[in-house]
Amino acid sequence: MIVSPSLLAANFGHIAREIEMINESEADWLHLDIMDGVFVPNISFGFSVIEAVARRSMKPLDVHLMIVQPEKFISRLAELGVSITNVHYEACPHLNRTIHEIHEAGMKAAVTLNPSTPVCMLEDIINEVDMVLLMTVNPGFGGQKFIDHSIVKIKQLKELISRTGSQALIQVDGGVNDKTAPLLAEAGVDSLVAGSYIFDNKYPKQRIKELKQL
Ligand code: DX5
Ligand code: ZN
Repeated sequence: MIVSPSLLAANFGHIAREIEMINESEADWLHLDIMDGVFVPNISFGFSVIEAVARRSMKPLDVHLMIVQPEKFISRLAELGVSITNVHYEACPHLNRTIHEIHEAGMKAAVTLNPSTPVCMLEDIINEVDMVLLMTVNPGFGGQKFIDHSIVKIKQLKELISRTGSQALIQVDGGVNDKTAPLLAEAGVDSLVAGSYIFDNKYPKQRIKELKQL
């Protein structure tokens, strides 16, 4: 399992220490949630924080843009050394162009679907993307309850990927914990994002290790 801890749930008063913990852990990537208060009803952090994190992180950065007009920021993310730029389907009227711009900037391109957006909307882009992120909560906040219907969407996405010969990985984000993670692994996801489950715990590296083993 590819494990991408979500920094949103970290203690921002001790952010250097938190990144050090991730560096020492078995995590594969570091998930950064960027929110603009427009696309989602919350604001997180911006470029000064991404830059500071990028300088310290030894893990590839997996950036989840919950913002309108994400295409405006592709080149700046590339300059900071971001590995994966992930845009929301619902925020991109010209998704094909945006995905190509992310690739041209030298990054992996991923697309995210909100819980209410059907998997079939990816039919004409699935062969262009490196990863699909299925939101398993409504984006904007950590610590929410997993939406059970997500399991059906994972199966639909797996079917779409195999039918089209796409190489896209399947990632999920929201409500990942010791109960939901085994179900997600069984449904066939490649990557788990987890925030509160990892950071709201005394032994975060142990939790990462357990998720890795799924
Ligand atoms: C929510 C973010 C998530 C969030 C997940 O909009 O995209 O990455 O940090 O938090 P948990 O794992 O606590 O549900
Ligand atoms: Zn996220």
